[in-house]
Amino acid sequence: MDHPISRRNLLRTGALLTAGLSVSRASRAGSFWNPVAANALHEQTLVTEFAQLGREMPKLKARIAFNENPHGISQKAKDAIVKAAETGNRYAMFEGQELKQLIAAKEGVKPENIMLSAGSSELLTAMAVFFTGSAAKGAGGTILTSQFTYDDFLGCSKKFGAKIEAVPLTKEYRYDLAAMKAKITPDTKLVYICNPNNPTGTIIPAADLVAFCKEVSPKVPVFVDEAYIDFLKPEDRPALPKLVAEGANVFLTRTFSKIHGFAGLRLGYAIGPEKFLTELQNYSRGEWNPSVTTLKAGIASYQDEEWQNFCRTENDKARELLYKGLKEKGYEYVPSYANFVLFPIRMKTKVFEKEMFGNGILTSTREYNAQPYCRVSIGTVDEMGMFMDVFKKIA
Ligand SMILES: Cc1ncc(COP(=O)(O)O)c(C=O)c1O
Repeated sequence: MDHPISRRNLLRTGALLTAGLSVSRASRAGSFWNPVAANALHEQTLVTEFAQLGREMPKLKARIAFNENPHGISQKAKDAIVKAAETGNRYAMFEGQELKQLIAAKEGVKPENIMLSAGSSELLTAMAVFFTGSAAKGAGGTILTSQFTYDDFLGCSKKFGAKIEAVPLTKEYRYDLAAMKAKITPDTKLVYICNPNNPTGTIIPAADLVAFCKEVSPKVPVFVDEAYIDFLKPEDRPALPKLVAEGANVFLTRTFSKIHGFAGLRLGYAIGPEKFLTELQNYSRGEWNPSVTTLKAGIASYQDEEWQNFCRTENDKARELLYKGLKEKGYEYVPSYANFVLFPIRMKTKVFEKEMFGNGILTSTREYNAQPYCRVSIGTVDEMGMFMDVFKKIA
């Protein structure tokens, strides 16, 4: 694996070792929060703050805050939407089945092991309700996870009274599976893992994650959020669907929001044991939630490997450009396997965000162990150039 950010440099930039979960702007502000609303809130907050300061509203040059696909959707998906629009007066009927069959064939599971949804956020919420807020599983319990990870499922579980046991990341910003295993108790209701992890962009070596799931899942269900899995090379993808096919108590969520560019169209899916998905169906409309246009577009995009390869290659190119710019400026970064990069910054998160936004760049920040970080999404090559121009000016 590539180099991590050195501890020495982190200390130089003012890191203090206090533990804590990643607290996003959204979860601080939200009531029953979901990341889609939170993203809008993020942008809106900056707009409001600018207005209050009486500063001229900047023209947005690059929106690289939400890990969206900057290339849009495939032409085949667009064509499918136009065609499907004519049937928009009818409820979707067979489209969900068709997509599930395609996914099942590719992943080596049965269509019954798949549940579709309008984006994977809906599934994260359904999982939280089912595991921590339902009569079936009993309220509360302990969710075991890592610090500095995606907090949507965790935040929602907390609202239902669950306790979150979050172990620190390794010094390479990776999930520490050994430390997690040591924390499993009879109270542990579920293990939540985000791989590749948001916001660090790191991955768990595929064989390690498979071994962990095999060992832990007979005792405690393991839920792996694989929102960014499509950015990985085949050898880095853990064969978790195979475990599901073999009957393991393992649940995965995936999304079309990233490589397929469907963040606005909304499509996601879960892979899990059939019995469990049948129960989960009580907490989500499943495939009846995405629109017929989205489902048709999803069917087209799922089969459009040329488009997916193009997006992956462009992402790699733009990410390399960002690395180069950061290195030239003397900044370290966490090598990323996804469409965003985390790096420590030398100013307060809010100041950084405002400075960037004032120069037309909407990006996002986080804090971990009292160290401020920028988590910048990978845009087009041009957008990363614009980001670096502004970054060099303000940093
Ligand atoms: C780790 C992770 N999981 C799930 C989601 C939810 O994505 P969506 O609801 O668009 O499928 C996101 C969104 O950025 C994410 O980063």
